[in-house]
Amino acid sequence: MRPGPASDRPSFSGRLIDWQRQHGRHDLPWQKTQDAYRIWLSEIMLQQTQVNSVIPYYARFLERFPDIAQLAAAPVEAVLERWAGLGYYARARNLHRCAQIVVAEHGGRFPQDAKAIAELPGIGRSTAAAISAFAYGQSAAILDGNVKRVLTRCFGIEGFPGTAKTEKALWALAESLLPKQQSEAYTQGLMDLGATRCTRSKPFCSACPMHEICIARHTGRQAELPTGKEKKPVPERASAVLLLTDGQRVLLERRPPSGIWGGLLALPEVEASAAETFALRHGCRLLDTWSMTPLKHSFTHFRLTIHALYGSVEAAARCATAPGWEWLDLQEVENAALPTPIRKLLRLAAKRDCTDRPEKKQARQRTG
Ligand code: ADE
Repeated sequence: MRPGPASDRPSFSGRLIDWQRQHGRHDLPWQKTQDAYRIWLSEIMLQQTQVNSVIPYYARFLERFPDIAQLAAAPVEAVLERWAGLGYYARARNLHRCAQIVVAEHGGRFPQDAKAIAELPGIGRSTAAAISAFAYGQSAAILDGNVKRVLTRCFGIEGFPGTAKTEKALWALAESLLPKQQSEAYTQGLMDLGATRCTRSKPFCSACPMHEICIARHTGRQAELPTGKEKKPVPERASAVLLLTDGQRVLLERRPPSGIWGGLLALPEVEASAAETFALRHGCRLLDTWSMTPLKHSFTHFRLTIHALYGSVEAAARCATAPGWEWLDLQEVENAALPTPIRKLLRLAAKRDCTDRPEKKQARQRTG
């Protein structure tokens, strides 16, 4: 069946709400509450992370920070510690700042209106609308990546959604579709449809409530919509780090507040030729060094290859610790505020994967 005139058809929102009630998700941990704090936390975690990855972090975070007052009162390092591994750490720093503002300026209660919520740090227009719908039943349009996919396909919208022109058109469409009632089921329905039916590859069109009205399905253009970005090669970067350890503890540096790993603990960036001097400056004598297998990690805008040099030193207890530096117990690797690739390197060091090295003789390089 081809799409007929709008007046002949159940509306987009009507179809979506009915479908969400019958087939949508109803048991996600953040759907069991109307507490704006818990809903806000879930929406921030879900901004760049999949539901299944968020669930354990969400529970662990709430165990440590059960309400906004406790989050606002905590040091940012404690917040980063519970965020470590989720990535995009600016989210955690903004979350903490936002909690402090809500406590100081809004008496600890989240504003209800989507526009006022969007004034807070780390909360864009779409996230603010989702919070106001789920916590307060307000009607405001959302437009995240999943929703852009649903709308461009269903309504046959051309143009890369990242351009200002297409994004503006999509916001206008999202606003025009918004029902005045049942905003919670409608908003959740958009998210559920994008996650479970209108998926990026192999969409499940036969079980989609928009099956009859979707322009992409009628024209067989599901794979072409949304229009992709013109592809540019991802820049490659490399970094040399030093993993200085006595086998029990490892020397880490707290990174300055801004940047990709701002506020997290990380391995110091030291070239192999400078390892010996660096160790001496930190009060240790370098006994031996060898190169670990390079580790690759993809960020949104570049790919990083980390060349780590394992440096064994005499007992770290006797080495000095300057401000901004920390000797972390290798047993504490899972609980510390570490970026994922650094955690991976430290896991290898803790398991001694790179310490007993019978056939690694060629890889072994003496420094100095
Ligand atoms: N993605 C963003 N917000 C979400 C939510 N509330 N439930 C499931 N996925 C989401």
